[in-house]
Amino acid sequence: MNIRPARLKDFGELLFIEEQAHIYPWPESTLHWCLEQPHLRCFVMEHERTITGFAIYECVLDEATLLNLAVNPEVQGKGLGRKLLRQSLLVLDATIGKVFLEVRVSNATALHLYLSEDFVEIGTRRNYYPIATGREDARVLELNLDAYRTK
Ligand SMILES: CC(C)(COP(=O)(O)OP(=O)(O)OC[C@H]1O[C@@H](n2cnc3c(N)ncnc32)[C@H](O)[C@@H]1OP(=O)(O)O)[C@@H](O)C(=O)NCCC(=O)NCCS
Repeated sequence: MNIRPARLKDFGELLFIEEQAHIYPWPESTLHWCLEQPHLRCFVMEHERTITGFAIYECVLDEATLLNLAVNPEVQGKGLGRKLLRQSLLVLDATIGKVFLEVRVSNATALHLYLSEDFVEIGTRRNYYPIATGREDARVLELNLDAYRTK
């Protein structure tokens, strides 16, 4: 299992994972756009040349926002999400000192993962995400990446 920067030719595999992993996947155009943006850092996790997950960060000055983290559902629950999160955080530019993200209040797996990797909750965005019955809140989390690097 290794992490490398995503390339445009990975798009098909990333789209497959996006559509399998998320209840409300991004449109194709959003994912494609991400792969073309120089201020976004997109990483894929590979095992024997097959992409098993990806992470996308937006980086501005000394802050990054984790826009997307997804693991192919066929291999979820085996520790790959944690490896992908850890390794991608540790290869962000040294100038990045803080990382932010939003996560659905109902996403117990992702919340557990982030909190156990030292993210802390700093707020709530009301009615941020669609759900079948209406909207649900997002929790806003922050990581002190400088401290995380020295663990
Ligand atoms: C979130 C995601 C990336 C995690 O990847 P994964 O490979 O399944 O995660 P891991 O196997 O590394 O497990 C991470 C932790 O979640 C825990 N976990 C698994 N299912 C859980 C559940 N239902 N409730 C709480 N914790 C759970 C695991 O036990 C593990 O914690 P531990 O190491 O303390 O035991 C993956 O589930 C995914 O792609 N989900 C869909 C997309 C998504 O929600 N992305 C996050 C958006 S913010």
